[in-house]
Amino acid sequence: MSKDKIESASPHVLPPLPYADNALAPVISAKTIGFHYGKHHKGYIDNLNKLVAGTEFADLSLEKIITKTAGKADKTAIFNNAAQAWNHTFYWRSLKPKGGGEPPIALKQKIEASFGTLDACKKELAATAMSQFGSGWAWLVLDGGKLKVAKTGNADVPLTKGMKPLLTIDVWEHAYYLDYQNRRADYVNAVLDKLINWDFAVENLG
Ligand SMILES: [Fe+2]
Repeated sequence: MSKDKIESASPHVLPPLPYADNALAPVISAKTIGFHYGKHHKGYIDNLNKLVAGTEFADLSLEKIITKTAGKADKTAIFNNAAQAWNHTFYWRSLKPKGGGEPPIALKQKIEASFGTLDACKKELAATAMSQFGSGWAWLVLDGGKLKVAKTGNADVPLTKGMKPLLTIDVWEHAYYLDYQNRRADYVNAVLDKLINWDFAVENLG
């Protein structure tokens, strides 16, 4: 994927997973990926294509659709499906097989400047992921030149709040329920320790 382009204009297509469906196991099973990517992510894209067909949004990129529909009550369905299409593509790239571990040095220094230690950054990400009530997303973002942790509810995105997303963790139950049932903390900590893709964060720092 190019640096900041998640996806082109419609018809929107489901981008290929950046790894095999069993490549994140045992942290995230192929069964979870099958539903999460194959049903949920695909569903958002299929719905979006139906919703924008023949409208002023038909030829716009996902990012444009998101920014033009954010906060507009009569465009909620389009926003939700566009934002979820974007969020999921960003989420798959926020993970990688044999991820976790130490970030590249330049990112590690930024993390230490903002959070003190890598461990403190991971703890804040995990605590934020846990404190999101119901469905949503936990993010590592760049906000005014500083790294921060943020959360968004349902389909909401940091893009519309002036923050630049670097990494995300999906905390909708569909992301972990088959593997962890209600144990969201176990899922989040396993993702941070074993799958998080620090290289993707560096790419997004740009
Ligand atoms: Fe999801």
